Amino acid sequence: KRRIAVMTSGGDSPGMNGAIRAVIRMAIEVGCESYAVLEGYEGLVQGGDLIKRMDWEDVRGWQSEGGTLIGTARCLAFYERAGRLKGAKNMILNGIDALIICGGDGSLTGADKFRTEWPSLIGELVKTGELTQEQIDPFKQLNIVGLVGSIDNDMSGTDATIGCFSALANICEMIDKVEATAASHSRAFVVEVMGRHCGWLALMAGVATGADFVFIPEKPRSENWRDEMCKVIARHREIGKRKTIVIVAEGAHDMQGNKISSEMLRELLADKKGLALDTRITVLGHVQRGGTACAYDRYLATLQGVEAVRAVLDATPDTPTPFIAINENKITRKPLVQAVLDTQAVAKAIENQDFERAMSLRDTEFSD
Ligand code: F6P
Repeated sequence: KRRIAVMTSGGDSPGMNGAIRAVIRMAIEVGCESYAVLEGYEGLVQGGDLIKRMDWEDVRGWQSEGGTLIGTARCLAFYERAGRLKGAKNMILNGIDALIICGGDGSLTGADKFRTEWPSLIGELVKTGELTQEQIDPFKQLNIVGLVGSIDNDMSGTDATIGCFSALANICEMIDKVEATAASHSRAFVVEVMGRHCGWLALMAGVATGADFVFIPEKPRSENWRDEMCKVIARHREIGKRKTIVIVAEGAHDMQGNKISSEMLRELLADKKGLALDTRITVLGHVQRGGTACAYDRYLATLQGVEAVRAVLDATPDTPTPFIAINENKITRKPLVQAVLDTQAVAKAIENQDFERAMSLRDTEFSD
């Protein structure tokens, strides 16, 4: 029987457990054996108990559990060839020739590199006597399929990543709570949300909660952003708003590339010569990433997990490594490398303050 393994890597995101459950059960459904690699790439490098056979029953109820129940890690050993050699050996010793990885762009790039290097890795294992030719013969080809798990929704080529809608729901719930106390005291709040290179969470939360002002990395405000923001907020106060909510993504910058921090915004809102608002900061942090997956993420993770197994079965040596996307509500397969390159080019373009390019690469419209 063919053996398919599933692994989670990088930062966790709600919905990862739904993806694991779907992969494990679909693999069994199509007559394969299912395995889980525990603790991300660390499990692949160390092998032993960290590579575990999984049955149908083992993932019962996993869809409604937060985080990832098979663990995740940022594994430095896998960046080195020596670590990847150990990973290849452990896969062969366990009879696994296909790996479905749920993680962000960094984790998926590592996976594609592993696949590209595979023939030379297994060749070296024979040369150094770690494995015999007979042992490697059935494993000439490594199949890799990516599932994108990230709360930031920062992957090019897909409309949504597993976890982003749960994180958005968490943020909205927290902002609702902040608003109640803000309105009671007629205060202003600066709410800092995650998103290193991607303002999707901040922007969508701004729309969904009716925030007064939003700062995102992809669209820095013009040089006079301070006056612009104060004018908007003053107008909102004039028309009777008792609360002010400013949302700032952790990666927000001005046109010159200077970070726009929560403290900077607090000082500006509280400035006695200006708006003079009693202002507090709420950094939402990891509560955004925690908790259980919302219905959409459970459904997305399940459909994409099933599709990932199908993609493994369809793979040929010439198929470029795919990742499973969703485009206009349809589950699709896309070449992984191009999407990762586009994603990394967005981060680079933001760093170089080429915001038009960043927006066009992300394939998302951010209009005024
Ligand atoms: O990639 C998702 C993300 O949530 C980012 O927005 C954030 O900067 C980062 O993870 C923080 O992750 P950690 O605390 O695990 O390093």
